[in-house]
Amino acid sequence: MRLRDKVAVVTGAASGMGKAIAILYASEGAKVVVSDIKLEAAKETVQEITSAGGEAIAIEADVAAEADIQRLIDTTVTAYGTLDILVNNAGIMDNFEPAGDIADADWERIFAVNTTIGSSTTHINEFGMGRTQPGEVAQLALFLASDEASFINGVVVTADGGWTAY
Ligand SMILES: NC(=O)c1ccc[n+]([C@@H]2O[C@H](COP(=O)([O-])OP(=O)(O)OC[C@H]3O[C@@H](n4cnc5c(N)ncnc54)[C@H](O)[C@@H]3O)[C@@H](O)[C@H]2O)c1
Repeated sequence: MRLRDKVAVVTGAASGMGKAIAILYASEGAKVVVSDIKLEAAKETVQEITSAGGEAIAIEADVAAEADIQRLIDTTVTAYGTLDILVNNAGIMDNFEPAGDIADADWERIFAVNTTIGSSTTHINEFGMGRTQPGEVAQLALFLASDEASFINGVVVTADGGWTAY
């Protein structure tokens, strides 16, 4: 198992890619916090994980609401003692209108949901910067050179404990 005893928060984990990530992480041994704005659907993801022998809890959170994000992190740390992995997956799309036709309220909501969590999660630092080791960068280089990264090409992957995410 590649994530044994790691603690992972996955936002938007009630459906789609977030759900798939949560289930895969749990199958690799992670304790997964299944977070979503839709709590009942998040609980269904948890049910799938626990019925397969995995460990997970559901926490309702709107990633555009700072208080929700802080509560998500605090509840995670209370439940599992730490936070190793944050998958900022929750997101929404516009309706593919031309840019000039997007209503201001929709534009603001899309940016609030798709970009807010990185700037408003103040507790991440204690688990991120301050503990960087050369070996962690080497692990990324190893991954990128491996067959597991066979579908990754032509992109820059930053390894800085989340520093530039802010
Ligand atoms: N599916 C694609 O082809 C595609 C392509 C590029 C990018 N993306 C992005 O990847 C992410 C996941 O896509 P998906 O297809 O799995 O989407 P999805 O709609 O199936 O899942 C998104 C999840 O996020 C949740 N969510 C929405 N707003 C939220 C909020 N404010 N707070 C917390 N949770 C919220 C939804 O309830 C849902 O469970 C999104 O950010 C999406 O924009 C998707």
